Amino acid sequence: MSNRRDFLKLSAIGGSLGLALSHIKSISAIEQKQPTGPIVVSTWEHGLSANEAAWDVLSKKGRAIDAVEKGVRIPEGDPKVRTVSLGGYPDSSGKVTLDACIMDENMNCGSVAYLQNIKHPISVARKVMDDTPHVMLVGEGAQQFAKEQGFVEEDLLTAESKADWQNWLTSGQAKKLINIENHDTIGMLALDAEGNLSGACTTSGAAYKMPGRVGDSPIIGAGLYVDNEIGAATATGMGELMMKTVGCHLVVELMRQGASPQEACKQAVLRIANKLENFEQFQVGFLALNKQGEYGAYCIQTGFNYAVRNVNGEQLLDAKYLLEDKI
Ligand code: GLY
Repeated sequence: MSNRRDFLKLSAIGGSLGLALSHIKSISAIEQKQPTGPIVVSTWEHGLSANEAAWDVLSKKGRAIDAVEKGVRIPEGDPKVRTVSLGGYPDSSGKVTLDACIMDENMNCGSVAYLQNIKHPISVARKVMDDTPHVMLVGEGAQQFAKEQGFVEEDLLTAESKADWQNWLTSGQAKKLINIENHDTIGMLALDAEGNLSGACTTSGAAYKMPGRVGDSPIIGAGLYVDNEIGAATATGMGELMMKTVGCHLVVELMRQGASPQEACKQAVLRIANKLENFEQFQVGFLALNKQGEYGAYCIQTGFNYAVRNVNGEQLLDAKYLLEDKI
């Protein structure tokens, strides 16, 4: 245990020095050789098709905020993506409850939490941002607002998700509420041709969560943050840990201090791991994009990948992870 602690402390100390981070940034910038121009990055493999929809906006010189909204609607409407909206895993009572947020280059943001039966929560969040004086609507109020805005209610619990939930109820797994594979949120960050950043994040949350549970994804600063001067970050994995560290705001602030996107994500993961004896049991992943179009990601466990789309085409990249660096 002491070896693990020493490793984590050393890593954190190295990354907490502004000078060290500036050094890391310059290395990263040389290595990445990013093309200039628009770029979109998204969490997980389902980010590939989401990025394609976003790229349709970005490649026509559209706004990043429109790109991220259009992009994440793809997994929201895809019943094969089991962790986002239609077809998403329900809570322990069988209800599919949705969390989403969106943020633009002018610090405008909108968010919904514990929304049900609306296939595109990201577009409700966008309406909160554009058409209300508020940032966040939850539960019944969010539902009412969505209906007033013309969103149609539909049952999002597919036969497949219902069967899995019923199996979970009867298979004796019902106590195991959290594991490392059931939080595959889509988080998307985009830089447009004007050089403006925006982000979106949407999820059905942790599978079989307690009724009423809201995760990090609709919380500005935890599941998503955008500062148009510096960069943007989004997160996936066990939301409670991003909420406890306001993780995405932290990533952006580390980039402000000179960290490259990947180093900033790593330091945010270390902030969590340093405070958690059993961090190996959880997955947390951060994805970041800076104002220069450089990107990076970092997580605890192997298995987190992210999709990148720019003028060079599309890529699916494996994130670096803490348990690998520890070896
Ligand atoms: N990161 C998604 C959640 O924990 O709900």
